[in-house]
Amino acid sequence: MEELNPPDRLLLGAGPSNVHPRVARAMASPMVGHLDPYFIEVMDETKNLLSKAFKTRSKFSIPVSGTGTAAMEASICNLVEEGDEVIVGVNGFFAERMAEMIRRWGGKTIEIKKRWGDIVTKEEIEDAFKTSDANLVALVQAETSTGALQPLEDIAKITRAYDALLLVDAVTSFTGVELEIDEWGVDICYSSPQKCLNCPPGASPVTVNDRAMNRVRNRKTPIRSLYFDFTLIERYWNERRMYHHTAPIVNIYGLREALRLALEEGLEARIAKHRRNSEALVAGVEAAGLSMNTEKEFTLPSLNAIRVPEGVDDAKVRQILLDLFNMEVGAGLGELKKQVWRVGLMGMNSSERNVLFVLEALEVALRLEGHPLKKGAAVHAAIDYYNLQ
Ligand SMILES: Cc1ncc(COP(=O)(O)O)c(C=O)c1O
Repeated sequence: MEELNPPDRLLLGAGPSNVHPRVARAMASPMVGHLDPYFIEVMDETKNLLSKAFKTRSKFSIPVSGTGTAAMEASICNLVEEGDEVIVGVNGFFAERMAEMIRRWGGKTIEIKKRWGDIVTKEEIEDAFKTSDANLVALVQAETSTGALQPLEDIAKITRAYDALLLVDAVTSFTGVELEIDEWGVDICYSSPQKCLNCPPGASPVTVNDRAMNRVRNRKTPIRSLYFDFTLIERYWNERRMYHHTAPIVNIYGLREALRLALEEGLEARIAKHRRNSEALVAGVEAAGLSMNTEKEFTLPSLNAIRVPEGVDDAKVRQILLDLFNMEVGAGLGELKKQVWRVGLMGMNSSERNVLFVLEALEVALRLEGHPLKKGAAVHAAIDYYNLQ
């Protein structure tokens, strides 16, 4: 068996995105013990960077050891008790996963079911409160399966008015899309590093405010999961440093560097960059006669879902992109299987170069598949959008 030699792909799919060279370098640094004074400093720095990136004063901004699904499960199992009613917007694969997880942890879901690609409105949330005793609302801000961006600000206000908590999945939006944890009043939010942070998966950001931590501390029943118990994890991440589990040290090195990169670029500039490149991509897609899966207003800048035209084999097109251009584009998931291509423009992968490249590559692949587009139309529309000529 030989040494690993994976292909050097351009990862423009639903995630992971490419790893930033500075993150890769940080992850190749020497290992220290997980209670080494050096690592304790790294832990404190990572918490501070997370609070800044989440725009929160919450002291409980930590990476959960595990992938985004672990962060989802941790959030849910701490907050949901047997018989609790939870309002969930169900409009995509990850929203369905959230609902399923809430039920598995004993919650009763009040589901607002929408077409995959649509968003949940504040009126629908208010109606759900009027007809239930819900104490939690769970929403996916960036639904990776559909490319829809869920507005949160007004829903957060309504949730507060009903004295409930708001739980948000920001796996595909964190540092790529506007997210104001304290200003909007999001109580618990989790993400994953392999999307807009250009970091390998394994240590997943979570922030929990005091209102939510008070709920966790005053549960009627103990948290069933020992591994995800926030009160135990807190004692490991605060001054007490009580052993709970061995943190994935190298992943935290990587996350720390990825957060430094995001804050160096500036959150506002980074968010504007994601929006601009997504708009250029959409201009190209539409000029070529293709269409997006979402309404313009709710198109998610970090994950752009393009409808597969009638009669085109989506898998063959993706295979051409992989073989000819070494480029990964995501397949449709769940209800949208075979119906969309998912183009991730995340973190450093959100760039003019990648927008022009993926538009050109799609045009070539579709021509080879017998579905010619108007020659050069997509790239030229993006160039016009960027005002490059
Ligand atoms: C919106 C959303 N939530 C949760 C997850 C789960 O994250 P992971 O695959 O890292 O477990 C994903 C993964 O793509 C996601 O896109």
